[in-house]
Amino acid sequence: MAASSDMQFRVAGLRDQINGHNHRYYVLDDPAIPDAEYDRLFQELQALEAAHPELCSVSSPTQRVGGKPLDAFTPVRHRVPMLSIHTETDTGPGGALAFDAQVRRDLGLSEESAPVEYACELKFDGLAISLRYENGMLVQAATRGDGEMGEDVTQNVRTIQVVPLRLQGAVPEVLEVRGEAYMSRADFERYNARQRVAGRPTLVNPRNGAAGSLRQLDPGLAAKRPLSFFAYGLGEVQGWECPVTQSAVLDALAALGLPVSGERTAVQGAAGLIAFHRAIAEKRDALPFEIDGVVYKVNRLDWQRQLGFRTREPRWAVAHKFPAQEQLTVVEAIEVQVGRTGAITPVARLKPVFVGGVTVTNATLHNADEVARKDVRVGDTVIVRRAGDVIPEVVGVVLDRRPADAQSFVMPESCPVCESQVIRPEGESVARCIGGLYCPAQRKEALRHFASRRAMDIEGLGDKLVDQLVERNLVHNPADLYALDELALAELERMGAKSATKLIEALDRSKTTTLARFLYALGIREVGEATALALERHFGTLDAVMVANVDRLQQTPDVGPVVAAALHAFFQEPHNQDVIARLQRAGVHWPEAAAKFSDKQPLAGKALVLTGTLDALSRDEATDQLRALGAKVAGSVSKKTDYVVAGRDPGSKLDKARELGVKVLDEAGLLALLDNSR
Ligand code: IVH
Repeated sequence: MAASSDMQFRVAGLRDQINGHNHRYYVLDDPAIPDAEYDRLFQELQALEAAHPELCSVSSPTQRVGGKPLDAFTPVRHRVPMLSIHTETDTGPGGALAFDAQVRRDLGLSEESAPVEYACELKFDGLAISLRYENGMLVQAATRGDGEMGEDVTQNVRTIQVVPLRLQGAVPEVLEVRGEAYMSRADFERYNARQRVAGRPTLVNPRNGAAGSLRQLDPGLAAKRPLSFFAYGLGEVQGWECPVTQSAVLDALAALGLPVSGERTAVQGAAGLIAFHRAIAEKRDALPFEIDGVVYKVNRLDWQRQLGFRTREPRWAVAHKFPAQEQLTVVEAIEVQVGRTGAITPVARLKPVFVGGVTVTNATLHNADEVARKDVRVGDTVIVRRAGDVIPEVVGVVLDRRPADAQSFVMPESCPVCESQVIRPEGESVARCIGGLYCPAQRKEALRHFASRRAMDIEGLGDKLVDQLVERNLVHNPADLYALDELALAELERMGAKSATKLIEALDRSKTTTLARFLYALGIREVGEATALALERHFGTLDAVMVANVDRLQQTPDVGPVVAAALHAFFQEPHNQDVIARLQRAGVHWPEAAAKFSDKQPLAGKALVLTGTLDALSRDEATDQLRALGAKVAGSVSKKTDYVVAGRDPGSKLDKARELGVKVLDEAGLLALLDNSR
């Protein structure tokens, strides 16, 4: 059935609407309709085009990924050559001053004449392309090539959503738009995340992503590496009233529906250039795409013509770079560092290289999987990246430069700091030193945890004090805390005799504890409060826990293979055994479990949530007592909660309880429950 004129009208209307929404969504970042509504319009257009092939058009928004894979790219001769620009190597203000001085000389301006107006733009870090529109339709897209001859990449460029297939408004007969195809940081990260999951190679940087995507012969694959585009100039133009300044040209291109970066401005003289360079350098890392500098252009086009070209570079424009964020250097060694939680991180020791404004000698390799995936070896030449304040990292290896004797990395079996065993639990990417309390790298964190309120509850042992104690080598492990000398303490910063006495008293008080608190305080991986309590109940004594094998440990309720393995490894470590013995000798003790807990657990299986303030006992005390009777005390209310205990000024948990019909107890009700259960 031939399409009626109504239908032609509808198809044209849908294309206009979709093009308009695409522009708002991709170019202006200001969508006007919900995605679902957009999808509906798109599907309607697809259906009409499928039913009436005679209505199809290459400029339809449905046709972005229409092309078939190519055998090779067709060469394209640029009617107006695509030139490059001179780069100022001085990354400081000197670069701007030199350019302005040269322009003024070339224009024959005297010292008294007014400052030159410049258009300041970003220097996008992608690939230059030229888009040719004839009567508003995108007819060809080409790479720069050698500037004279490029390659026809129309099919791939059609997949770039921000590139309009049709211009809007009063369109020129011929308009060649020059600009940069690039990959945004977000698209780069997304693409790499997908590749990692699939175990496929990742892109080294967004620029390589853009190059790879443009040079992809199959447009279907190019579409999977999404690119963006910014227009920054013109090639051949016919039948258009061209504006008279560069700034106005870009405004006009934006009005035709082309994406133009908003990060641009017109400034006066060298001072204006320097201010722009500085402002953009500060913003650089926060931009959603990468730039490697800024570009200054004499704003008046008649002056641009007057200035003309020197060999292959215009005299009216210059690129003023920022310090590079990536450099090549050689890996001299791969060592490991031990983090606060015992995580072992491989670090590349590098031949010093100036990158991102500083000399870098180390770069993180994250973990053993990353080293293997990137296949970084000692002796390799690598790309090192340092962006902003981010820790420098190795982004990839230059395989062509690999020496025959390059050495692969092997994760050490023992901790380089304390020589304890290094383990890497199955399914985890991070290897850890199990030295725990003994490993100096982990000491501060371990001490903080040991002293914390729900562990040994050592009042007054704050972070700053822990730092001092470790840094001055006064405390190596928790047992040393109980050997601290009041006089030595009083000498520390922000201490004094009174606080020293108080701390010693607090340490003394903390010696009377419970087995569960003690187990929790040891900071064994995977062992939280609930597990510590379960262990206390199941084993009754510390000795029993310490000698238990993995099977025995797993018989504890809620202790699975991972927790059991962590416990077993911890107690096998002689250093840990030693610290525990010293703590007990120092007087740390707890009531025997058998005496404190009867076998019966009257509240076993009951789940409670506490909210608001209690008067007779603190929330922590209530929690301890309830847990001792077998109850689970949770932080949030669900259908599985048996009781919500509401004290004074209860929070939203009470509302939630009412909503779900969970039983609510007041403080008296809680006390009665505790009494009746003992
Ligand atoms: S203008 C005749 N403006 O930098 C002048 N180039 O050598 C033509 N670039 O690879 C270039 N951002 O793709 C101009 N705002 C910008 C630019 C820019 C990036 C790239 C361009 C080329 C190189 C210039």
